[in-house]
Amino acid sequence: MLCITILTIIFIVMKENKNHICPVWVGRLMVNPLRRLGQHPDKIVGSYLEPGMKVMDFGCAMGYFSIPMARKVGEKGVVYCVDIQEKMLTQLMKRAKRKNVHPIIKPTLIPGNNGYTDLPDQLDFVLLFAVVHEVPDKKKLFDAISERMNEGGKVLFAEPSGRVNASQFKDSLGYAESSGLIRVAPLKIYRSHAMLLSKNGN
Ligand SMILES: C[S@@+](CC[C@H](N)C(=O)[O-])C[C@H]1O[C@@H](n2cnc3c(N)ncnc32)[C@H](O)[C@@H]1O
Repeated sequence: MLCITILTIIFIVMKENKNHICPVWVGRLMVNPLRRLGQHPDKIVGSYLEPGMKVMDFGCAMGYFSIPMARKVGEKGVVYCVDIQEKMLTQLMKRAKRKNVHPIIKPTLIPGNNGYTDLPDQLDFVLLFAVVHEVPDKKKLFDAISERMNEGGKVLFAEPSGRVNASQFKDSLGYAESSGLIRVAPLKIYRSHAMLLSKNGN
């Protein structure tokens, strides 16, 4: 019940947020452990990750997914955590140090829609969770991600259903496909539209 209340507060606030960028205080709510009751990070991303993988959590905020991802890829892997808000990345690294996974996490501050030149390449997996609707040029984002994926690499793309309607999600999927990402399967994630995509469809 508390989990539903927290998620509902997040969705209402985000819906009313005219700037469309998740504020830092909502970032704090998004790492509340109660969120696991509806959106458990290991259940959502765990099966796509293996030790040694090079992965990216794009729009990571304070690392609700990044830290479990770091545990899965282990010390031979790397999790690039990308965000446009420095405060999110500072808090993420504090949390990562407490959980002792900070050597695996590479925080990456980017200037937003203007440039993805600092994004890593040869990625095995990319998580786009509740971020694409905040990005003005979605096609440019999907192009940048697609060209940095390894063949067979997977992208888990999810949007909050309280904020993004089915038609908007479909439009974003169209951008992903025109960037060379292929639909693998729709995913069932609490209060989300979600699709698994692949660089070459495998
Ligand atoms: C709603 S939060 C989602 C956080 C996280 N993915 C989760 O599910 O817990 C969206 C995050 O994306 C970031 N963001 C928004 N636009 C971005 C952009 N153009 N590039 C990178 N990050 C962006 C925001 O700063 C915020 O931290």
